[in-house]
Amino acid sequence: MQEREGGAALAPGHAVLVVGAGAMGRGIALVAASADHLVFLSDVSEEARRRALTAIAEELDGGVRKGRMSAEEASAIRDRIRAVAEPQSVASQVHLVIEAIVEDLEVKRVLFASLEPLVPPQAILATNTSSLSITAIAAPLARPERVVGMHFFNPPTRMKLVEVVSGLATAPEVAQAIRDTAVRWGKIAVMARSTPGFIVNRVARPFYAEALRVLAEGAADCATLDAIVREAGGFPMGPFELMDLIGHDVNFAVTSSVWSAYFYDKRFQPSLIQQELVWAGRLGRKSGRGFYDYAAGAQRPAAAEAPSCLDRAPSAVAAVGEFGPFSALLERLAAAGVVVHRRPADAGPVRIEAANTWIVPTDGRTATRLAHEYGHADVVVLDWARDWAQTPRAALARADGCAQDSWACALGLLQRAGIAVTPLDDVAGLILARTVAMLANEAADAVLAGIGTPRDIDTAMRYGTNYPLGPLAWGEATGVARIVGLLDRLAEHYGEDRYRVSPLLRRHLWNGRPLVGGDEGEGK
Ligand code: NAI
Repeated sequence: MQEREGGAALAPGHAVLVVGAGAMGRGIALVAASADHLVFLSDVSEEARRRALTAIAEELDGGVRKGRMSAEEASAIRDRIRAVAEPQSVASQVHLVIEAIVEDLEVKRVLFASLEPLVPPQAILATNTSSLSITAIAAPLARPERVVGMHFFNPPTRMKLVEVVSGLATAPEVAQAIRDTAVRWGKIAVMARSTPGFIVNRVARPFYAEALRVLAEGAADCATLDAIVREAGGFPMGPFELMDLIGHDVNFAVTSSVWSAYFYDKRFQPSLIQQELVWAGRLGRKSGRGFYDYAAGAQRPAAAEAPSCLDRAPSAVAAVGEFGPFSALLERLAAAGVVVHRRPADAGPVRIEAANTWIVPTDGRTATRLAHEYGHADVVVLDWARDWAQTPRAALARADGCAQDSWACALGLLQRAGIAVTPLDDVAGLILARTVAMLANEAADAVLAGIGTPRDIDTAMRYGTNYPLGPLAWGEATGVARIVGLLDRLAEHYGEDRYRVSPLLRRHLWNGRPLVGGDEGEGK
C-alpha cells in the first residue's frame, strides 16, 4: 500500500503542471499546491481557468473558516497556483504533468505529444483518465515509459484514493515515483495494471448491476433494496441512491464502456432500466429526478417493513448444521430469550427450525426451490448481513407455498431479536448476498488478471467507494465456500455466464488459503 513514504516522491521544490482546470484538474492542483509544489494550472478555456481559481480560493477560505489551516497557509497555497493559457510555455520548468482534460484518446495523445519534447527528460507525464488505456495514450510518444495513470477520485481534495496505473510500457520506477508522490500528498495509493475500469470502476460494477437485476425482477422497490444494503450491509449508501448521486449518464457510460472494453462480457452487461432513465433525462439528483424524486417537497418513499408478528415468535428453535457467520444470529436469539437447540448437519439445508418453518440462510437457491427439493412447503430464506451481532435489519423471502402462519413465525422470531424485517419476493440470492458474492468474485478475478494485489484491491474499494470492508476480506469473513456455492446456484438458476465463479475463488476453496492478508502479493 502506501508504506514507502518519501523515496522517489517528487520533491517539494519541483513544479507540477496540471492541464485541464475542470472539476478534477482544479482539485488536483489544490492537492499538489497544498503539498508545497509550485503548480501551473492550464486550460484551453479562459473561463474555466477563472472559475477554477475562484473555486480554489473558496475552498481555501472554507478551510480557514473551519480551522483546518491558517489564513497565511491558505494564501501561500493560493500563491503557489498559477493559471497559464499555454501549457507548452511552462513545460520546461516542470517535473510532473498531470492531464485532466476531456476524456478523448486523440486529444490526450495530441497534448502529450506537444509537451513531451519540452519537458525535462526525467519528467513524468501522468493522466487522470478514468477509462482510457494508459498503453494507448503512451504508444505514439518517444518515451512511453514516462507515462502513467494517476487516477484521482471526485472530489480529489477529499477522496483519499489514487490508483497508480501502469501501461505496458510504463517504467516501474515511474509508477513507484507517482505512488510515493501520492502518499506524500496525503493520499492512499494503490498500484493497478491498465485494464478497463482499472480496479475501482471494474470491481464496483456488481454493486449497481445486482441491484438493478433484482429491481428488474420486481423483488422490491428501490427504497426497500437501498435500506437493506445500507442497514444490513453497512454500505454508506444504497445502490439506487448512489446511482442517483453519481448521475445515470455517468454511471451508465462507465458500465457500458467497461462492458464493451471487455468484449461484451455478460458480467458487465448494463441494465435496460438505467438506459431508460438516461433516455428520459432522469439523471438523478442533478436533473431533479432519477430513481427518486428530488423536487422540493417530494417525499422519499419508505422501505417496506413486515408488520409486527412478535406474538407469533416461538420460544424455542432448533439450529441445524454449521452456521458460520450466521452463528451470531443464534447468539442474538438466545440473548433475546429464545431457547436454541443445536443439531448437527443432516441431509437438509443449514436452517433454523421454528415450529414448522425452515429459515434457511440463502445459499443462492430460492425458497420455492428449497421447498420443492426437500418436500417441505414452509421454507423462508434469509439474506446475509455484514454483522449479525448488530444488524438492525434483515431481508426474508418465502416459498410460494409457505403458509401464512409459518411466515409470521419467521418474522416474529427475527423481530424478537430486535431485527426489523424486510420482505422480498423470492429472488435467488436475495440482494445483499448476491451483491457481496459478486463483488468478491470480481475482486478475485481482478487479482487473477494481475490488475492489483489482493491488498491493493481491497484498499482501493474501501477508499475509492467507501465500502465498509474490502470485497476480498468480506468474502473471507463470509467463507469462500459460501461465496462459491451461492454463485454456482445463481449460475444454475439463470443459466448465464454472468455468474461464473472466478477460477481464483475456486482455487482458494480447494487450497484453503486466505484471499487477502499476510504478505503483499499473496493471494494464489
Ligand atoms: P471537466 O469537463 O470538468 O474538465 C475538463 C477541462 O479540460 C475543461 O475545463 C476543458 O476546457 C479542458 N480541456 C479540454 N480539452 C483541453 C485541452 N486540449 N487542453 C487543455 N484543456 C482542455 O472534466 P473532469 O470531470 O474534470 O474530467 C477530466 C478528466 O478526469 C477526464 O479524463 C475524466 O475521465 C477524468 N476523471 C473524472 C472524474 C470525475 O468524477 N469527474 C473522476 C476521475 C477521473
